[in-house]
Amino acid sequence: MKDRLSQIRDLAVKRLSEANDLKVLDEIRVEVLGKKGELTQILKGMGGLSKEERPIIGQLANEVRSEIEAMLEKTKKDLARKAQEIRLKAETIDVTMPGKVRELGHKHPMTQVIDEIKNIFIGMGYEIAEGPEVEKAYYNFEALNIPKEHPARDEQDTFYINGVGDFLLRTQTSPVQVRVMENKKPPIRVIAPGRVYRSDEVDATHSPIFHQLEGLVIDKGITMGDLKGALAEFAKGLFGEDTKVRFRPHHFPFTEPSAEMDASCFACGGKGCRVCKDSGWIEVLGCGMVHPKVLEMCGIDPKVYSGFAFGMGLERVAMQKYAISDLRLLFENDSKFLKQF
Ligand code: DAH
Repeated sequence: MKDRLSQIRDLAVKRLSEANDLKVLDEIRVEVLGKKGELTQILKGMGGLSKEERPIIGQLANEVRSEIEAMLEKTKKDLARKAQEIRLKAETIDVTMPGKVRELGHKHPMTQVIDEIKNIFIGMGYEIAEGPEVEKAYYNFEALNIPKEHPARDEQDTFYINGVGDFLLRTQTSPVQVRVMENKKPPIRVIAPGRVYRSDEVDATHSPIFHQLEGLVIDKGITMGDLKGALAEFAKGLFGEDTKVRFRPHHFPFTEPSAEMDASCFACGGKGCRVCKDSGWIEVLGCGMVHPKVLEMCGIDPKVYSGFAFGMGLERVAMQKYAISDLRLLFENDSKFLKQF
């Protein structure tokens, strides 16, 4: 029996030292220590032993039992530690490896230009106004002193909604002027940036959709001097402190008198270069004193109030500022192009 017990122990020790997962450990436990296990069988067979033999074998069996239990426990811990070591090794992060570069988006050059211009005017106390892109013909034309049959309607090739009718895609941001005057009492000082539409063929300088920014100031005693001062200040903000401006007489139906404003070329300072096509000047915007008829149609008394307005194409500003030679680049959204700004 003694031999049998030491056999059981030796075999268990051997098996345990070879065991490499918890399932095997459990099998060994059941086979050796379980109810039907080898050791239990021996203890059960002790009835046939003599009085003297019984305590000796009993003690030995108990020793073997606790030895195996202790070894089981130890092996279990060893296996758990090994498993953890393997896991930690697999999860090790090499902090010296170069990181993955994730590309960040950024503002489109048009948005950058619009934000910059907005900030200049906000700094001068202007508010931002908005109007719908699907507009009533009344706001886009009539209220701006462009009656039916007026040639300006042909000049601005209009996208009408449902044929030539009451609704259209606005061809300019000027209708926002009318909406503001209808809804707000003077003093008024607003700018309105936004998308406008004209049925033009796409080429390097034309697109059926583009952006304009409108400005409107109405108060008592506003003069052409205020217009020139505000717009000269704007040009300095946009193109630099040394920028000079000049005003050339022009015609718009909704202003009287009307002018176009040029700024001295920011690229060459006026000497002449590629940006200004050797003229030293770049055309920036149209402007003028709001026509008394327009004020009247919007419910503002032209005998009490006067004001000025201006409007500019924003793609042209972006193209000049960033030396972009083809308008289409601004709409194609090729990330290789956009990344440069
Ligand atoms: N709406 C004009 C255009 O699309 C631009 C413009 C000129 C707006 C003079 C104005 C202005 O407010 O006073 O060509």
